[in-house]
Amino acid sequence: MSVQFSDKTAIVTGSGNGIGAAIAHRLAAAGASVMLADNNEESAHAVCAEITAAGGRAAASKVDIRIPEEVQAMIDYSREMFGPANILINNAGLGSQKHFLETPLATLHQMLEVNVVGTFLCAQAAAHDMIEMGGGRIVNFSSHSGLLGSSGRAAYAAAKGGIIAMTRAMAVDLALYNITVNAVAPVTCPHE
Ligand SMILES: NC(=O)c1ccc[n+]([C@@H]2O[C@H](COP(=O)([O-])OP(=O)(O)OC[C@H]3O[C@@H](n4cnc5c(N)ncnc54)[C@H](O)[C@@H]3O)[C@@H](O)[C@H]2O)c1
Repeated sequence: MSVQFSDKTAIVTGSGNGIGAAIAHRLAAAGASVMLADNNEESAHAVCAEITAAGGRAAASKVDIRIPEEVQAMIDYSREMFGPANILINNAGLGSQKHFLETPLATLHQMLEVNVVGTFLCAQAAAHDMIEMGGGRIVNFSSHSGLLGSSGRAAYAAAKGGIIAMTRAMAVDLALYNITVNAVAPVTCPHE
């Protein structure tokens, strides 16, 4: 079954690379207008150019998802370009791999800031637009490390497990507004 998104606007964070870039391509190919949101401006623009060259609708925005003002500016730019977003793919994230006993506190803070705070800020800003639109879809990116024990992942697992718990609570709060919130937990591929 092919799902069409021609009347939809999707924001994909972390879409300058990896899974986010692949999702952005698929959504654009299905007809969505896609906002590529990444703190790597060059790579976001490169993916944007690929999508538009293939006939899709896309724009790129440099954003550090840890910073509320930058997140709001990205949401505002997306609205200006394509109208309020119906879909948020909260994919941007950062990993760490270090034995628990050697993990600096700064690494834990960094994991929580990018993965949890960033996911929170993007979802909250996007949800306000979705409420105005009468509903929307939010997909948060966790990891199998948020579900299962794995070596060297204490800081990352804390953040990705936090995303799962936060997703459940967000889903309850936002159900009232016809916004579904789900999390996906990819299994680590060799180069993660
Ligand atoms: N690839 C895997 O095997 C795997 C497994 C489990 C979970 N995940 C999760 O899936 C998501 C995507 O993974 P990936 O492998 O494609 O990642 P990736 O490292 O290839 O891409 C992540 C993107 O996020 C962007 N980014 C990082 N910090 C940011 C910030 N503060 N603000 C804005 N953008 C930022 C990067 O610039 C990059 O373009 C991540 O949340 C990751 O934790 C991936």
